[in-house]
Amino acid sequence: MYSIGIDIGGTKIAGALVNDLGEIISQTQVPSPAQSAQAMEDAIVGLIQELSAGNPVRAAGVAAAGFIDAAQSTVYYAPNIAWRNEPLKDKLEARIDLPIVIENDANAAGWAEYRFGAGKSFTHMTMLTIGTGVGGAIIANGELFTGGFGAGAELGHLRVEPNGLECGCGQRGCIEAYGSGRALLRYLREETGNPELDPDQGKKLLEIGDEAAWRAVSTLGNWMGIACASLSAVLDPQVYVIGGGVAAAGEHLLKPIRDSFLANVSAKGYHPEPEFRIAELVNDAGVVGAADLARKHAEKL
Ligand code: BGC
Ligand code: NA
Ligand code: ZN
Repeated sequence: MYSIGIDIGGTKIAGALVNDLGEIISQTQVPSPAQSAQAMEDAIVGLIQELSAGNPVRAAGVAAAGFIDAAQSTVYYAPNIAWRNEPLKDKLEARIDLPIVIENDANAAGWAEYRFGAGKSFTHMTMLTIGTGVGGAIIANGELFTGGFGAGAELGHLRVEPNGLECGCGQRGCIEAYGSGRALLRYLREETGNPELDPDQGKKLLEIGDEAAWRAVSTLGNWMGIACASLSAVLDPQVYVIGGGVAAAGEHLLKPIRDSFLANVSAKGYHPEPEFRIAELVNDAGVVGAADLARKHAEKL
């Protein structure tokens, strides 16, 4: 029996057919029509139909970059997509004959890392995904923590600067405004003195190991370490797993995060040091996690 995982991002929608070991049987993707809720729904339906054709599928999990309700059916709010109180589960189930669960994208990625990736030898794990936005996932005592209203673990909206930069959530000073891929582009522009630098050029600089690019990554890592220091006061994870596109910077990203964490953590010098690891499932974490959470949900039905 298989499950389907769909991962909706700001730039693309990825889909995969996944077995119970978290292995991808087949996968596909389409560009994300992020600004139209209807086009988005059509695209998701298309992907699920394509992946399920001729295969034994029990359920589909749809991971979305937004605040999800406790019933895993409605997207309350998506900072970077056109969803406000969007009843996504009902809309999809009306068109597809499968149980559907809606998951937060970072929760799905975190669950996949915990079960099959960088977090598998731990029971308390915190994941931060650094992409268009900053996502978070909390594994506490081996369970995915989603909060009382479903929208917990929105770690990108941890406030690190009162009255700081504006964030897509409507507030100011969230770590997302300082630690996302968009923030990295800002730092890259500052470091290179080129205000026109585009994301592809930025990516190139990181790939060739440009010094200015590493300084920009360091600035981002410094902010992330500050966030992790506060998170440890609440969650005290054994491991932080860092994922999302920016995690490709590897040790260049982990080192400033770790250094800044150690400088900012409470009970400095006495608080046991968590590990900082780069995510292992990289681009597949969202689809694998969404599929596995759908499997888990369907087994309880
Ligand atoms: C959203 C989260 C999402 C994260 C990463 C944030 O802006 O609030 O729901 O997990 O971006 O996509
Ligand atoms: Na989350
Ligand atoms: Zn915010």
